[in-house]
Amino acid sequence: MASVTSLAASVHQRVADALSAALPEAGAADPLLRRSDRADFQANGMLALAKKLKGNPRELAAQVVAGIPAGESGAVIKEIEVSGPGFLNITVADEAIIETLAARAADDRLGVPYADDAGTTVIDYAQPNVAKEMHVGHLRSAVIGAAMVEILEFTGEKVIRRHHIGDWGTQFGMLIQYLIEHPHELDHKGGESAEISGEEAASNLNRLYKASRALFDSDGEFKERARRRVVDLQAGDEETLAMWQRFVDESKIYFYSVFNKLDMDIRDPDIVGESGYNDMLEETCRLLEESGVAVRSEGALCVFFDDVKGPDGNPVPLIVKKSDGGYGYAATDLSAIRDRVHNLSADTLLYVVDVRQSLHFKMVFETARRAGWLDEKTRAVQLAFGTVLGKDGKPFKTRAGETVRLVDLLDEAVERATTVVREKAEKVGLTEQEITENGAQVGIGAVKYADLSTSASRDYKFDLDQMVSLNGDTSVYLQYAYARIQSIKRKAGEHRPAAHPELPLAPAERALGLHLDQFGEVLAEAAASFEPHRLAAYLYQLASHLTAFYEKCQVISADNPVEVVENRLFLVDLTGRTLHQGMALLGIRTPERL
Ligand code: ARG
Repeated sequence: MASVTSLAASVHQRVADALSAALPEAGAADPLLRRSDRADFQANGMLALAKKLKGNPRELAAQVVAGIPAGESGAVIKEIEVSGPGFLNITVADEAIIETLAARAADDRLGVPYADDAGTTVIDYAQPNVAKEMHVGHLRSAVIGAAMVEILEFTGEKVIRRHHIGDWGTQFGMLIQYLIEHPHELDHKGGESAEISGEEAASNLNRLYKASRALFDSDGEFKERARRRVVDLQAGDEETLAMWQRFVDESKIYFYSVFNKLDMDIRDPDIVGESGYNDMLEETCRLLEESGVAVRSEGALCVFFDDVKGPDGNPVPLIVKKSDGGYGYAATDLSAIRDRVHNLSADTLLYVVDVRQSLHFKMVFETARRAGWLDEKTRAVQLAFGTVLGKDGKPFKTRAGETVRLVDLLDEAVERATTVVREKAEKVGLTEQEITENGAQVGIGAVKYADLSTSASRDYKFDLDQMVSLNGDTSVYLQYAYARIQSIKRKAGEHRPAAHPELPLAPAERALGLHLDQFGEVLAEAAASFEPHRLAAYLYQLASHLTAFYEKCQVISADNPVEVVENRLFLVDLTGRTLHQGMALLGIRTPERL
C-alpha cells in the first residue's frame, strides 16, 4: 500500500510554505486552496490574512508568487499568478498530473491513504422490527449504513456493525399468547426442517400479527392473558422464551431474504437487537438513579432536560423505566451505549436512524454524557435521514394508504431495470442469463444510488422512472460509463494502457486527470462528515468528465500516435478502476458489459 500525495495537497504545501516565508508572523496560515475554473486551483487566503495584518493583499500575493519556483522542469506548479484583489491562480504541469496518476494506478488502493491508528466506530444500521414488515425507512438505514461501513473501513477505521432490531416489547405478549393458543400457525407447509422463503415467512408473520391483533382488540380476556404473557417473557419463562425465539427466527429468514435481494452482507453475530441488552437494563437504571441523573416522577424513572418541553410548556422527560416497572426503548439504547463504549471500546457511535427519532437520540446522548458513559474521547452521532416520499411528494403509501412493502419496490425496480437492459442487450450481445444478472444489478443499484446521491437528511422522492433513466445523475449512467470503458479496453487490441508524462494534455484530459486525483480527498471528507452523498456526487462528476473527454479526444484512432493511444487508455482505465472502487463502496455493482 502506497498512499499518494494528491496534486492539491502538493500545491497547498508549496503555497503554505511560501506564505509563511513571506509573512512569518502569519504562522501556519491556510492559503485556502480550491479547484477553480479559471486555472486548476485558486488560493484566496491572502485576502483575509493581509486584511488582518493590515497589509496589501496583492503585494502579499506577489511575494508568495516570488517564493514559488514555477515552470521549471519537474516542478508541480507550471504557472502561478496574482489575479483580482489578491487571489492566486495556479496551473499545474501536465507532467505532474500524469505522474501522480501513474503512482495511483500502481497501487491497489488507488493511492488512498490508510490510517493504521484510526479509531473504532460502532455503527447502528439496518434495524428492522421482528414480526413486522420492512418498509422504505428500513431501506434507507440499511443502504446508507452499509455505504458508511465500507467508506470508513476503506480509510482504515475499525468498524463494528450493530443491527439493533426491534425484538422486544409488549407486542410480543399478544403474539406469543396467540401462538400458544393456535400452536400450528407458524408451522411450515413442508414440515419443520424444510427451507421456507422470505416471502412465506413474511406472510406467516403478517397473518399472525393481524389475527392476534384482532383478538386483542375484541376479546378482553385474551387481552389480559396477553398482558400476563409479557410478564412471563420479561421474567424469562422458558416456554414463553421459546415461542419468542420462533418469531425472531422466522423474522430473520424474512430479513435475510430482503437484505439478500439488496445485495447486502448482513451477518448474524452483528444482529444484536433490543433483547440483547436485557441483562443490563436494571443496572443501567440503578446507575442513573444513584448518580441522580434520573429521578422518580409519578412512579416512573425519568431524566429531565431544560430545553425539552411539550406543547403545554411542561418538561417532557426521557422515561427510562415506566411506572409499571417495564423498560422501554430508552433503557435499551442507554445500555447499548454502555456496551459499545465499555465492552466494544468504541470512540465513535454512529446511528443511522430516521430523523423523526432525533429527539430520542438527543435525550439519550445527553443522559449518557451526564452519566459519564460518553465523554470528550467518545462521541455519539445520529446520521439522521429524511422521509421517502412518493412521486406526489407525500410520504410513500400505497393507494390503499398502507405502507409500501419493501420487497414489492425492489422487485419493481429490478423489473424496470431489466427492461432497460434488454433494450440494448442485442447490440451488446448479452445472453439471457446476463440480462437477468445485469437487470438485478442495475435495478438494485438504482434504488441504492437514489438514496445515496442526495444528502441523507433530506426527504427524497422514490421515482422509479427517474431512477432507471440513462441520462442524469443515476447509477445506470455510472454503470454505463464503466461498461463503456471495458468495451474500449476490449477494442484496444494490442494497445495497453501506459502513462506518458511527456505528452501535452488536452483540456478534457487535464480535467479528467485532476478529478481522478481527488478520489482520496473526497473519501476522507465523506468518511469524516458521514456523508456518502459526497462520494456519489464525485462519481457522477467523474463520469461526466469522462463523457466530455470522449467527445473531445478519440482514444483509439489510426491518427493517434501510439503514445497518445496508450496514455488515453491509461486515463480511461484509471477512471474505470476509480468508478468500480467508488461504486463498490456505495454497495453498487458495475457489470462488465451493459
Ligand atoms: N428498530 C427501530 C425502528 O424500526 C430502529 C432502531 C434504531 N437504533 C437504535 N439504537 N435505536 O424504528
